[in-house]
Amino acid sequence: MLSRIDWVISNCRLLAGIGAEYEQTQPFAGLTIGTGIHLEPKTVALLLTLARGGARVVSTGNLNSTQQSAVDHLRAHGLTVIGGPTRDQAVHDADLAEVLSHRPDLILDNGGDLFARYLENPYEGLRGGTEETTSGRARLALLREQLAMPVLVINDSPIKQFAENRHAVGQSVLESLMRITNLVTNGRRVTVFGYGSCGKGVALNLRNAHAVVTVVESDPVLRLEALLDGFLVTSREEALSSADVVITVTGARDVVTAADLDLFKDGVILANAGHFPIEIDVPGLRSDARVAGVTAYSDGIEVLELADGRALRVLGEGHMVNLTGPRPLGNSLESMDLGFALQARCLEAVARGAVDAASCVVPVPADIDARVADDYVTGVTGAPSLLSAAG
Ligand SMILES: NC(=O)c1ccc[n+]([C@@H]2O[C@H](COP(=O)([O-])OP(=O)(O)OC[C@H]3O[C@@H](n4cnc5c(N)ncnc54)[C@H](O)[C@@H]3O)[C@@H](O)[C@H]2O)c1
Repeated sequence: MLSRIDWVISNCRLLAGIGAEYEQTQPFAGLTIGTGIHLEPKTVALLLTLARGGARVVSTGNLNSTQQSAVDHLRAHGLTVIGGPTRDQAVHDADLAEVLSHRPDLILDNGGDLFARYLENPYEGLRGGTEETTSGRARLALLREQLAMPVLVINDSPIKQFAENRHAVGQSVLESLMRITNLVTNGRRVTVFGYGSCGKGVALNLRNAHAVVTVVESDPVLRLEALLDGFLVTSREEALSSADVVITVTGARDVVTAADLDLFKDGVILANAGHFPIEIDVPGLRSDARVAGVTAYSDGIEVLELADGRALRVLGEGHMVNLTGPRPLGNSLESMDLGFALQARCLEAVARGAVDAASCVVPVPADIDARVADDYVTGVTGAPSLLSAAG
């Protein structure tokens, strides 16, 4: 029987086409690509594609999302994987340092971890690379002057914004809430913190699943947009005290903390979909004096029992809910195939010297967006490529 990784690879249409092309063109011949990325079946498809283009790939995972089967598959195909699944920041830091000790020519970053560490201990020969996330872009934008090399931010492609963040994250967060808790969403009061590209999809998918959704957003313009999109928009206090489920997806720290303990309804479920496990202060909640006991259930469900009789249910210890719990599948294959096609094409552009140092922490170049979008539409609809029609 073939594995899930084989299923994923066989459904990543864009990557399959790029990989076949790369076998001929070898854009990464002689180059090392270093990465710290969620190691799961879809990233396996990406990293194998880069290896088909001649890259020596040196990879480690992110905190709490590495799947051993992905590590084994990559190693069996000759890629270097540092470490394995871990929730220990010190272990993760050492793994990232080891990736950099291979002095990669290109970095495929996820959260800014590798570029930020590179600056602490720079070496000759790094040409630049890519950053996948919103959180990483915010971190690396502050380091632009020191980096001074091409760093293309995949998250800032309109394709990533709507295909993954808006459509796929919303679907997978809904799927994950139901998979982990097996509880109904119908009629539940759900509060979503953040109405950026991910929050819009999370709010919409929960509403489509018959929940009553309130949005808390710090930007007044986006608050207005949420209101006009038909969501309840209230003060954060009202939104927290009415919620059966609270979902954070902001990229910000301490969005929900122990200071909110008195507001929560009995039985409230707390989940984070933002990149880092910093949005819900789970350690602060656990150690608060009002918490009388903590009960851990399997599959990443933790119940904090308050002395006054209420209980809070925390999912995945505040790590990204769509990559935790039993058999986490993450975002849909097609959305990731699109995002990873952007990754491959951007790394190829940096490797070929097609983008210069002025392109430091900037969005994906428009010609790469157009090419990837065109390949997807042509493959799905059979419509002739507009790009080739235009010559
Ligand atoms: N789970 C996943 O699969 C997945 C996928 C893509 C991105 N992400 C992560 O999700 C997070 C959000 O990404 P995005 O693309 O939507 O970002 P975004 O910048 O488009 O939106 C975040 C929104 O949160 C708002 N916000 C910030 N602090 C807030 C607070 N304390 N209360 C209320 N609103 C607040 C901001 O004003 C902004 O509108 C990031 O951490 C990103 O890395 C997760």
